[in-house]
Amino acid sequence: MRMLTTAVNTLLKRENSLLQRHGFAHVVAQRTNSVHQTETKVPKIPPFSYSPPPYDGPSTGEIIAKRREFLSPALFHFYNTPLNIVEGKKQYVFDDTGRRYLDAFGGIATVSCGHSHPEVVESVIKQLKLIQHSTTLYLNHTISDFAEALVSTLPGDLKVVFFTNSGTEANELAMMMARLYTGCNDVVSLRNSYHGNAAATMGATAQSNWKFNVVQSGVHHAINPDPYRGIFGSDGEKYARDVHDLIQFGTSGQVAGFIGESIQAIGGIVELAPGYLPAAYDIVRRAGGVCIADEVQSGFARTGTHFWGFQSHDVIPDIVTMAKGIGNGIPLGAVVTTPEIAGVLSRRFYFNTFGGNPMCTAAGHAVLRVIQEEKLQENAFLVGSHLKRRLTQLKDRYELIGDVRGRGLMLGVEFVTDRDLKTPAKLETLHLMDQMKEMGVLVGKGGFYGNVFRITPPLCFTLHDADFLVDVMDHALSKICITEHINNKVSLLCFSSESETCGAKVKRVVIKSEVLEVAVEKEEKLQENAFLVGSHLKRRLTQLKDRYELIGDVRGRGLMLGVEFVTDRDLKTPAKLETLHLMDQMKEMGVLVGKGGFYGNVFRITPPLCFTLHDADFLVDVMDHALSKM
Ligand SMILES: Cc1ncc(COP(=O)(O)O)c(C=O)c1O
Repeated sequence: MRMLTTAVNTLLKRENSLLQRHGFAHVVAQRTNSVHQTETKVPKIPPFSYSPPPYDGPSTGEIIAKRREFLSPALFHFYNTPLNIVEGKKQYVFDDTGRRYLDAFGGIATVSCGHSHPEVVESVIKQLKLIQHSTTLYLNHTISDFAEALVSTLPGDLKVVFFTNSGTEANELAMMMARLYTGCNDVVSLRNSYHGNAAATMGATAQSNWKFNVVQSGVHHAINPDPYRGIFGSDGEKYARDVHDLIQFGTSGQVAGFIGESIQAIGGIVELAPGYLPAAYDIVRRAGGVCIADEVQSGFARTGTHFWGFQSHDVIPDIVTMAKGIGNGIPLGAVVTTPEIAGVLSRRFYFNTFGGNPMCTAAGHAVLRVIQEEKLQENAFLVGSHLKRRLTQLKDRYELIGDVRGRGLMLGVEFVTDRDLKTPAKLETLHLMDQMKEMGVLVGKGGFYGNVFRITPPLCFTLHDADFLVDVMDHALSKICITEHINNKVSLLCFSSESETCGAKVKRVVIKSEVLEVAVEKEEKLQENAFLVGSHLKRRLTQLKDRYELIGDVRGRGLMLGVEFVTDRDLKTPAKLETLHLMDQMKEMGVLVGKGGFYGNVFRITPPLCFTLHDADFLVDVMDHALSKM
């Protein structure tokens, strides 16, 4: 990393001295100023009164070594340099150096009330001191008290609770109950879903990267009602027809049921198209099936408007499964269903050693109380709406953001390198995540292509936290430019002098001066250079358009770009005189552009293909200056 930074600085210095020699000292000064400005603008984490005691545990290196030696090779971690999290309070976590981070992932949507919430912790300690474990073979009031409280949050006839230890277990049990109750085997689930990793749930999960090649029978995966990537856009009813077709053409015509997340979580915070669930439920019920809502991530007030995700779809499921946020991090899951469906389990013995453990259910009950007492659902709504609004504003400024979606404090930001083609911006996502971590913000990542930020913080997240997150993301985005394939190698082109590699999959990191060397000096790869520099130039010109009404359009490809000037954007009145004046002003500052268009109101930017990123920046800065004086 240090070597890379040194190399970059050397190259930048060389370019700066070239610029100075050719009479562009002012550009160097401007650039130096802007670097300093950006440095001072790194957003500051909101204040917090707690400081952790010094950490005296094993080093990061030792932990990594032990993980490698003694734990599953399937374990993976976020970030180039993995974080060693040693403490958590509310929406913040602390690493082994005592550094505080804003936790916008919440241990995968699990920390609902806040890290180490005193009321949850106290209830666990109190229960542990009384009795830790007895099994449901004996009576203990914690399990029944919590079951009663849990049922009170659910609508309809959802009145019987089975406790499990995880979301996978809850979904396994739910699918088995659906099969037993209906006497059918076939289940419909949605593509891009995640429901767990045991036999039945891996079958229901529909993303190849989470599926092992083992027997997973009896699940049919319907077309995903994904408003962003799906073939029918936001038309929920059209997608639901596929459920009908699957049942008619892929089963006996009768099914056990349907399982779906109210908002797909691991799949990249995908909200189901409006109208989908009511239509799909109707079709499934007509085929004799029951409907299972997987609320493992979307439950427990996270979506803000409702306590359960399915409620915003205006449906009442027959079975609801939950985990994660139910225990604020204590291992706990549950299935809630109707007395009639629940009855199927009395056909045999069904037993779960830890399910409903006094310690876990005491924690679960405390979580419900905290959500209510601290009005966390209202907070999720308020802060989540603000956060979504601000993220959407970022989308207007950065082409890299293809979509912002989700509800409450379950939000997703999808990154694409091409908005029309929706090309997943995988490397940029990794890089941004890393950069945001460096500035103190932790977000999750997901989506089939790994190009979606998952923002699922503890529900005590504040408006200041939301602003900090967006400011940090803005800062990181302002430094990222483009990824491109050069000689079949993936390169990440960054504009930060502090750039670094961003994950194992990055084969090469190219800093701008290096690109120029590779592209121009050494091999004269002018086509690649036209693409790289042209894309950057177009992006910067488009940013200018956001600031100056006079710019009606920015268009073109590579180093064949046009900027059209209009005095009225609606009427598209050609700004002929202004175009001439701007051209003149820019010439005075050392930039020559062409002019064209039927009305003579378009800048034609078609430089030699060895045009550099510095040239592009210079052109835009000069144009900005000229426009600001108009
Ligand atoms: C929607 C959903 N269902 C089920 C599961 C499985 O839960 P667990 O990991 O607790 O088994 C997950 C896990 O992330 C999930 O996101």
